[in-house]
Amino acid sequence: MADRKTPHSTGSTTQAGIPAVSDRNSLSVGRDGPVVLHDSHLVETLQHFNRMNIPERRPHAKGSGAFGTFTTTEDVSQYTSAALFQPGVETEMLARFSTVAGELASPDTWRDLRGFALKFYTSEGNFDLVGNHTPIFFVRDPMKFTHFIRSQKRLPDSGLRDNTMQWDFWTQNPESAHQVAYLMGQRGLPRTWRHMNGYGSHTYMWINAEGERFWVKYHFLTNQGWEHFTNEEAEKMAGVDADYHRRDLFEAIERGDNPSWDLWVQIMPYEEAKTYRFNPFDLTKVWSKKDYPRIKVGTMELNRNPANFFAEIEQAAFSPANMVPGMGMSPDKMLLGRNFAYQDAQRYRIGTNFQQLPVNAPKTEVHTYNFEGAMWYHHTGNRSVYVPNSFGDSWSDEEGTVDASWENDGALVREAYTLREDDDDWGQAHTLVREVMDDDQRLELIDTVAGALETVIEPVLSNAIQYWKNIDEEVGQRIEEKVRAGSPQGEQQPGGDPLDLKKRHTFTS
Ligand code: HEM
Repeated sequence: MADRKTPHSTGSTTQAGIPAVSDRNSLSVGRDGPVVLHDSHLVETLQHFNRMNIPERRPHAKGSGAFGTFTTTEDVSQYTSAALFQPGVETEMLARFSTVAGELASPDTWRDLRGFALKFYTSEGNFDLVGNHTPIFFVRDPMKFTHFIRSQKRLPDSGLRDNTMQWDFWTQNPESAHQVAYLMGQRGLPRTWRHMNGYGSHTYMWINAEGERFWVKYHFLTNQGWEHFTNEEAEKMAGVDADYHRRDLFEAIERGDNPSWDLWVQIMPYEEAKTYRFNPFDLTKVWSKKDYPRIKVGTMELNRNPANFFAEIEQAAFSPANMVPGMGMSPDKMLLGRNFAYQDAQRYRIGTNFQQLPVNAPKTEVHTYNFEGAMWYHHTGNRSVYVPNSFGDSWSDEEGTVDASWENDGALVREAYTLREDDDDWGQAHTLVREVMDDDQRLELIDTVAGALETVIEPVLSNAIQYWKNIDEEVGQRIEEKVRAGSPQGEQQPGGDPLDLKKRHTFTS
């Protein structure tokens, strides 16, 4: 790896730029006497240290990323007028990959979903696509999200991760079956971030220049080839190099081995959503590729490492609310819930004006009537700070139905989506386990799930076995045989041999 050190040769300064006298000795009364408070360099050093941390992201705390370019190579202008998706347009971008449940320093190779967050600095403002490395999710109502994340994190008394809690949540929420089957299969352990796909997961809207609307799903397919770790490799790597995925991406880009992904989309004509055999806005489902074949859009290449991890990755702020003209939300309740959550988290985690940091700022001019607040530094000059005004300061004033809209029922209710013909929770999970996985992959899945259930207590254990039988009777039975044969059923096994890796699998979301 290239030597990244560029020594500074003229001594240090305080943060006010004043030459600092010594970074090794504090000012004291005589050699052996007390240090004094007016050693402002010491005071600044200690005070700044105390403020080095910002809250970690609540989910997706551990991650890293890189900058790159997205190039639209095909013509999809019949579906969207978004400037970045017009033929030949190149857009600067940032990607951040992450695990979901682990904390800031947790191992990269624990079994988990991987975040796949993208920020495109487009000519119409920032577009963020905040997805995962699977095309679906565990739940379909935002009300369940915080419960889900808490069940994957830590117990309130011991502060430990707990398989019983994880499986309890999943088995109490059968809509999780499809995502859990993905997670427990090979796709739950990508070898590196470079070797995994990424998905927008939700259904979004695209709108073309004529105002025609389409439903769209984003698929970023890796050009490095899909590769995964086995359980043993991943467990071992967690101990050998907890930062393996972060290191792999950084070093690949340092040596010029730039990873790339092709963007493909599935497009559903607007009206077809009304009669499709299952709800196409349900985040626990994929759309059949036979019904909606993938269409290529372009290629994303990551080619520049962060120069400052904290400023450019830790303080990076992605939000599903950041959409540009030519695209929009959909009636997916999860997506609508996320629309609120991210920027609220970022105003707390980073600060009110986090969008002014270079990594988050758009490359376009910002003209907002929101101003001031902690760390604000843009000049507002003598422009009006209100609308309407009599001084020619422009504002936006469109009225009527917005482009990105859809029909609604009207009445406010608290109810699940209306069920359609194929809207069951087990069907797509069954297809994944029985038709997409081959015999070897199914065996690996059975081993993985049985390992994960070894420390799970009743009644959750029986619920989990039934859950797998609902997905696939035979797979469920074999999991049951393995679990019942392998351990005194239903007894929790705290402690034990810490090096018996199989018994200590903790699966994160
Ligand atoms: C991060 C909330 C569902 C992908 C986050 C953060 C919050 C959050 C608060 C931390 C943001 C920050 O501090 O910068 C929610 C809520 C959800 C939801 C309320 C459901 C209602 C999802 C889904 C996906 C997803 C379905 C993927 C399809 C991500 C990713 C990150 C993230 C990739 C990390 C972004 C980064 O790298 O900075 N989520 N989330 N989330 N979420 Fe979600």
